[in-house]
Amino acid sequence: MTKQKADFENIYVEPDPGSYHRTLGNLDYEIPEHGRRVFHALLDELRVDSEDPTVLDLCCSYGVNAALLNHDVTLEEVQAHHSQASALSHDDLLERDRRWYADRRRSETVNVIGLDSSEAAVNYAVDAGLLTDGITADLETGALTEQDQTKISDVDLVTVTGGIGYIADRTFDHILQAFDQTPWVAALSLRWVDFEPVAETLDSHGLVTEKVDDFVVPQRRFSSSEERNFVFGQLSTQGLTPSEIEENGQHSAELYVARPAHAATDIPLHDILDQVIDGSK
Ligand SMILES: C[S@@+](CC[C@H](N)C(=O)[O-])C[C@H]1O[C@@H](n2cnc3c(N)ncnc32)[C@H](O)[C@@H]1O
Repeated sequence: MTKQKADFENIYVEPDPGSYHRTLGNLDYEIPEHGRRVFHALLDELRVDSEDPTVLDLCCSYGVNAALLNHDVTLEEVQAHHSQASALSHDDLLERDRRWYADRRRSETVNVIGLDSSEAAVNYAVDAGLLTDGITADLETGALTEQDQTKISDVDLVTVTGGIGYIADRTFDHILQAFDQTPWVAALSLRWVDFEPVAETLDSHGLVTEKVDDFVVPQRRFSSSEERNFVFGQLSTQGLTPSEIEENGQHSAELYVARPAHAATDIPLHDILDQVIDGSK
């Protein structure tokens, strides 16, 4: 009997994304779709200064956020595509997926570098053409190689969906040391996970973190009544009452955006995210 969040470790490390999308799709996993709307709005603002912005997607898994950012597909379509039963070899499956995404490539794209502790997932996402580059690393326990530091030195936006909790302040501390310029950070974080240690680390690197009011979205359904009880316990420990989303049987996520102080002062976050916030209600 689980007394904590469901354990998906086995579906993160397969050579291809079938089990990942089948398992999470069955739980109505939807957070990357919310991430896409947020990240596009922030990238539109960043394009004012940088024509060709680069994203670093933490906990990138099989390149889901890159797939949604750069292709005319919904998460539901991505999940359905990868969930098809298939007897193809790994190479043939990669070829099928490369073609599927190439047919749906948007005209305006963004470079996405992905970081994940799963080598299999990062390799798939690079080989399928979803990631411009990939980094396999667990920065909660290890450090970035010099080569990987160079890969991310000119990133404009750091993104994360479904990853805070697996990664925390240590990961952000490592990556922020590697940047030549201070990037923006956009993190969708489960409501019951304490974001404060990450915000403190971002602050120590000169970033101002804002939690976006009025933005609370479903992540996925609870996998069991035990998981629901665990989440309600965690919320209670933090002095939080369950939101309507949790009462309805789903994990809920909030949005944190961190920017250099001058950007945080000059451009109110609500001006950038107005439509996204309206769309989340
Ligand atoms: C729920 S998935 C989220 C994937 C993707 N962002 C999405 O929303 O679909 C969590 C991912 O975090 C990765 N992960 C877990 N611990 C990690 C760590 N310490 N460092 C980097 N990635 C980690 C897992 O391998 C997995 O791919």
